Amino acid sequence: RPSLLRTASQHLRRRRDYSSSAAQPERKVAILGAAGGIGQPLALLMKLNPLVSSLSLYDIAGTPGVAADVSHINTPALVKGFMGDDQLAEALQGADVVIIPAGVPRKPGMTRDDLFKINAGIVKGLCTAIAKHCPNALVNMISNPVNSTVPIAAEVFKKAGTFDEKKLFGVTTLDVVRAKTFYAGKANVPVTGVNVPVVGGHAGITILPLFSQATPASNALSHEDLKALTKRTQDGGTEVVEAKAGKGSATLSMAYAGAVFGDACLKGLNGVPDIVECSFVQSTVTELPFFASKVRLGKNGVEEVIGLGELSAFEKEGLESLKGELMSSIEKGIKFAQES
Ligand code: NAD
Ligand code: LMR
Repeated sequence: RPSLLRTASQHLRRRRDYSSSAAQPERKVAILGAAGGIGQPLALLMKLNPLVSSLSLYDIAGTPGVAADVSHINTPALVKGFMGDDQLAEALQGADVVIIPAGVPRKPGMTRDDLFKINAGIVKGLCTAIAKHCPNALVNMISNPVNSTVPIAAEVFKKAGTFDEKKLFGVTTLDVVRAKTFYAGKANVPVTGVNVPVVGGHAGITILPLFSQATPASNALSHEDLKALTKRTQDGGTEVVEAKAGKGSATLSMAYAGAVFGDACLKGLNGVPDIVECSFVQSTVTELPFFASKVRLGKNGVEEVIGLGELSAFEKEGLESLKGELMSSIEKGIKFAQES
């Protein structure tokens, strides 16, 4: 028996050695908005990711300090800070994944759409640079309003002739993170094994958690419970904005969610099979041109946009009522990018 155990542990060690050296390609991740509330903890989490070999931290201010700080952590990723327009090209050069949490956050009483005026221009500028300096990178858009910033990015890339629908993602992982947490609490199941797809978009009623597909299934939840869970997931961002009382919106849970999604993109690029996450992407799942649903990630980004599966009557109703708002946010983004 002891010798059997030894053989097993040697085998495991060999597998680990293989996965940590021979099989793993070099990967560069760039974070744009890296000195912000999301950017800093996201930089920390990506520095801890063993799949990252180079971490590029860009912002209009503050990145030298953040980069110096994060670079002292004894993990393999090589960290460099870049500040201001002049250094954006170098920050992006050779990036495999670009994560964008640049832009202003909400204050109490604001909707995500109220951020459009400022963030639309920021996203347009950054995407113009991406088209020029790393047109093949996977772009993870965090900046709000995601329902409009993703269409803006698509238009910018189309104009530049670099658009690839497989490589543009609106990050909706925080909605999934919240749905999992709230469901586990209500259904009284261990949160670690919980999964809940969240579809639609990333604002208010456009966020549609599919609790009828949650695993493990629970028959302990009433219709009223499911309605309350849906509303809490849709209002999760506002819950944080109000609790922070003028000091911004979710940063730490968002950094976690951004790191989960960034990791999934890197695993997909590296050929790890069966990597599935929800994301707001170009889609034919509904009549809307962009829609969040489960997406299979692969070596070129989106490998498959997965359909919605069976919905409950309540979810079908939610789906129909989100379409108007989501479509107008998408159109607003497209119009801005085409006209500005
Ligand atoms: P923040 O103000 O703390 O940080 C934003 C950072 O962006 C700042 O450091 C700022 O200097 C930088 N920035 C501004 N213009 C820039 C530019 N042109 N290039 C590079 N960097 C630039 O805000 P935050 O709390 O980190 O939130 C950032 C964005 O993320 C907001 O729009 C917020 O609404 C959004 N957000 C999205 C989700 C989501 O689920 N997708 C969750 C939380 C927050
Ligand atoms: C969130 O869902 O936390 C973000 O979109 C930030 C916000 O404004 O709510």
